Amino acid sequence: MTLILGLESSCDETAAALVDSERRILAHRVAGQEADHAPYGGVVPEIAARAHVDRLAPIVERVLADAGKSLADVDAIAATAGPGLIGGVMVGLVTGKALAHAAGKPLIAVNHLEGHALSPRLADRSLEFPYLLLLVSGGHCQLLLVQGVGAYRRLATTIDDAAGEAFDKTAKLLGLGYPGGPAVERVAKDGDPKAVPFPRPLVGSAEPHFSFAGLKSAVVRAVASGQHRTPDLAASFQQAVVDCLIDRSRIALAACPEASAFVVAGGVAANGAIRTALTDLAARHDKPFVAPPLWLCTDNGAMIAWAGAERFAAGLTDSLDIPARPRWPLDPDAEAVRGAGVKA
Ligand code: KG4
Ligand code: ZN
Repeated sequence: MTLILGLESSCDETAAALVDSERRILAHRVAGQEADHAPYGGVVPEIAARAHVDRLAPIVERVLADAGKSLADVDAIAATAGPGLIGGVMVGLVTGKALAHAAGKPLIAVNHLEGHALSPRLADRSLEFPYLLLLVSGGHCQLLLVQGVGAYRRLATTIDDAAGEAFDKTAKLLGLGYPGGPAVERVAKDGDPKAVPFPRPLVGSAEPHFSFAGLKSAVVRAVASGQHRTPDLAASFQQAVVDCLIDRSRIALAACPEASAFVVAGGVAANGAIRTALTDLAARHDKPFVAPPLWLCTDNGAMIAWAGAERFAAGLTDSLDIPARPRWPLDPDAEAVRGAGVKA
């Protein structure tokens, strides 16, 4: 049995957790920064980095105290080393290095996307490799065949915005504030998903890539027209995202008969309408559907600790001079997608 301390600071959550190799979560804490960023309608990188500096060390202390453990009890320290907002990533990684050095413990530099990708195995011990993963968050929208620890085949990515980004921008346009995803979902409950005929970018195309920029522009025009109720705009937007995710995932499922299950992870997986539609899709393809509990879908320290535990078990640790990486694709062999912008 090994005990791993995990640190996460790549976006706007400061988080730490203690997880063991038996999948026990001994303690976990997440400090959000919603109030810090709300006045700006989105995450401000410099504000995020400073907030991580203030909050990470106290959170680590609290997590150790919650579990009644000290650093001496920990076998390794896992910290997100990218991809993400570089200031925040540096805070978490430097903290991880300092703790590892001071306590004489190994460091494990975790790819944040690997944290999301392996988190379903923390929640569900029966989930075996390989599985098809839909990773939908504020920064990423990808379909990956998870073949093993450190072995990922990227089948698709977004050629422009991530799904969560589209939710956040739509929320801003609708005056629903930040963070956008939960606000859009809440308001959409009172709306008609068929009220506004939004486009479904790339639906029907042969490769399962995603695109949300055109949908966002359509929301801008629909809001400007002044012809629609906010709940109808929210519900119609959400339905368009659901239809895109389902159509693209369907192509990927057909391409991966070897997948043992269809799995969703990332913050957008917290959306009820999306979870329901994905559950139906998996059933139609005779695959078990696995979705981690909501708190494990959004950024947290337990997923980093668990990815650390999986890497540690595979003998993978890192030297203290490993750099923080703002971009870090999970599948380095994946070809660049035509039309792709900044997303890894
Ligand atoms: O995984 P995550 O916590 O951070 C990233 O790594 O990006 O995902 C955050 C994203 C945000 O864009 C947020 O708006 C979205 O997940 N999100 C949701 C919901 N809850 C969070 N999107 C739609 N519906 C939700 N209920
Ligand atoms: Zn994330």
